[in-house]
This record gives sequence, C-alpha cells and structure tokens, in this order.
Amino acid sequence: MTLSRASGCAIAVAVLWTAPIFGADAGSPNAAPAGDAITAGRSTFQQFCAACHGRDGRGNGPIVQFLLRDPADLTHIRARNMGVFPKDTLGSILLAPSRNAAPEGVPTQMMIWGPIFQSMDNDRRRALARVEELLTFLESIQEE
Ligand code: HEC
Repeated sequence: MTLSRASGCAIAVAVLWTAPIFGADAGSPNAAPAGDAITAGRSTFQQFCAACHGRDGRGNGPIVQFLLRDPADLTHIRARNMGVFPKDTLGSILLAPSRNAAPEGVPTQMMIWGPIFQSMDNDRRRALARVEELLTFLESIQEE
C-alpha cells in the first residue's frame, strides 16, 4: 500500500494522540533533562496550581477557603495509588480536551488544563512537554 504524504502525516498524528502520553515513542523533544524538568515543572506549578494546591502541593493554597471542594494533597498521590505514581493517567487527565473526555472513573475537576496549555503554547508538543515537566515535579515531591 502506498500512502500519500498527507495521509501518512494524518496517521502519524493519530499515533501520537493514541500512544501512551509519555511513552518512549510519543517523545517530547522539548522536554528538559530530569533536574531541569523538575525546576521547570515547579515554576509552572507555582504559576498555575499553587493558589489551590499550595506551594508545596499539600492542598493548602491561599484560596482554599473560597473553593467548594478541597484540593487534593499532591504529595501522597503515589501512596494513594498503591506505591505507583500514575504518570500516564495524570497526563491524560491534565491534557484531556474537555471535562466530558475524562477517562472513566477519574475525578473530572482537573480537566481544564489541556485546553489552557494548548492554547497558551499553541503547540501540542510544548503543552505535552509542559505537563511532563509538571508531572516530573509532582513525582519528585511524593512522600512515602
Ligand atoms: C482552582 C483550584 C485548583 C487549581 C488552580 C488546580 N487544582 Fe488540582 N485540584 C483541585 C481540586 C478541588 C481537586 C480535587 C478534585 C477531586 O477530588 O475531584 C484537585 C485535584 C487534582 C489532582 C488529582 C489528585 C488525585 O490524587 O486524585 C491533580 C493531579 C491535580 N489537581 C493537579 C493540578 C495541577 C498540576 C494544577 C496546575 C496545572 C492544578 N491541579 C491546579 C483544585 C485546583
């Protein structure tokens, strides 16, 4: 079968969308090495997440009193998940295109970041790299 350039490209895009988000094949060319990724992730976290989740991720940010629901303590995600940090699942939650696209069984409160990062960076790969940095940072603050 011969593929035209355009359909080959469409298939590549489809593979990127369906591959494990942070698997080796999906690749994130803009992602920094681990130490830099933690620093970059921490900076994105302080900017977009700390108001609710707190600077250290414990769920004690300054606007908690105005929320209807307590933000999760993000330092115990691994402990709550039987010792495994669920990077791909969290990535698909943070990058989901809308709240309605939540994978079954996951809380839908955190579904708005995909559209925000993608519109901000206007580049899906940079949005992926940003979320990967965020998750590298979150993984680095897991306790127990
Ligand atoms: C407006 C407040 C607010 C902001 C800003 C916010 N969150 Fe949350 N987050 C919440 C609330 C509330 C929950 C609990 C939702 C639930 O349990 O359904 C939550 C839950 C989560 C969870 C699920 C944790 C778990 O163990 O289930 C993750 C991961 C998360 N947030 C990450 C982030 C990241 C990363 C950012 C920044 C990009 C962010 N949040 C910004 C309020 C916020």
